[in-house]
Amino acid sequence: MPKYRIAWLAGDGIGVEVMAAARVVLDKLRLDAEYLPGDIGWEFWRAEGEALPERTKKLLRETDCCLFGAITSKPKSEAEKELAPALRGQGLSYVSPIVRLRQEFDLYVNQRPCKAYAGNPLNYRDGIDLVIFRENTEGLYGGVEWCPVPPAVYDCLLANHKKMKSFEGVPLDEMAISTRIMTKKGCERIVRAAFEYAKKFGRKSVTLVEKPNVLRETGGLITRVARDVAREFPAIPLWEANIDAMTMWLIKNPRDYDVLVAENMFGDIISDEAAQLVGGLGFACAGNIGDRYAVFEPTHGSAPKYAGQEKVNPIATFLAAKMMLDWLGEKEKGVALEAAIAAVIAEGKVRTYDMGGSSKTGEMAQAVAAKL
Ligand code: NAI
Ligand code: MG
Repeated sequence: MPKYRIAWLAGDGIGVEVMAAARVVLDKLRLDAEYLPGDIGWEFWRAEGEALPERTKKLLRETDCCLFGAITSKPKSEAEKELAPALRGQGLSYVSPIVRLRQEFDLYVNQRPCKAYAGNPLNYRDGIDLVIFRENTEGLYGGVEWCPVPPAVYDCLLANHKKMKSFEGVPLDEMAISTRIMTKKGCERIVRAAFEYAKKFGRKSVTLVEKPNVLRETGGLITRVARDVAREFPAIPLWEANIDAMTMWLIKNPRDYDVLVAENMFGDIISDEAAQLVGGLGFACAGNIGDRYAVFEPTHGSAPKYAGQEKVNPIATFLAAKMMLDWLGEKEKGVALEAAIAAVIAEGKVRTYDMGGSSKTGEMAQAVAAKL
């Protein structure tokens, strides 16, 4: 029996190519694992009206963790039009399977490492090494929204709020509301994950990225919780930064920061910004991590214009596999994989198009495998 059972969700478009490349590298590492392919993505939406079939969720429940490639998703009206004729008009609605995985498996940490590997021509600056902890299940992306606003919501919750005065007389069908619901539990577990990571990997600081001077209640809650959690980690200072200022400081002094922690939307924003500082989509990976299960992925999508061309950079997927090895406790293999990736980048002989080269996806995989 192999030591690990890993769900293998390649998905759509370039997801298939980058996952095949990752497999070359993992096989060379001789990870003692069985890889179990599962169905996810657009093909299954069209044929079955379900981009994340129940059998795939069952597969995840029966495995240790998951590596996921990328999927295609389209706006509501287009999604409906592409359904198999027999499925149309039944009120099926498309919901991103990756968002559902995060919610249904309570993968509350979105961990996004952003490191400038020496020799990467796409580095904004050398020496950047950030790890972002984005809350993945609540906050402004929690999905509690209305348009039009139901009268019950207005009458019970809003009518008497003093800040609603300026909206008096606005028809409820001309108003949209998105809520930012945050809980003490949600704040505490993401901040704790950030500090525990900082402690385990010898990081020098944790920065909470928020806006508590304006978002007084939700921002206030996570700030209080962060200060409480920080007291348990006296060796690691907690810094506090406002989201707007942080987007500037990440450009001005990216090397000053280390571990960053933020609510869902703010974390989303700084994750993409930080990813671009170290090479963009070809290098950006994420771990969606809960207490018992985790899904690792490159953060790019299915890039239809490059699908089937063996052109895109698989390094983001290799880095996702490295995170997976770390999470499984395969520290040596994780270190070896990262060193091999870093060596290929430093040599600069094998580069995909985004790095200014013309190497194929599979050549990058062979180059990294050859260093292992
Ligand atoms: P995308 O991330 O698929 O690609 C945008 C562009 O970034 C590509 O055209 C390419 O120029 C570059 N790029 C992406 N991955 C790359 C790689 N590994 N190496 C080199 N260059 C790379 O985003 P786009 O085009 O907006 O979306 C395409 C589809 O993917 C859509 O259906 C979208 O909904 C979906 N999507 C899925 C995600 C996921 O599976 N997690 C995330 C983002 C988008
Ligand atoms: Mg994003």
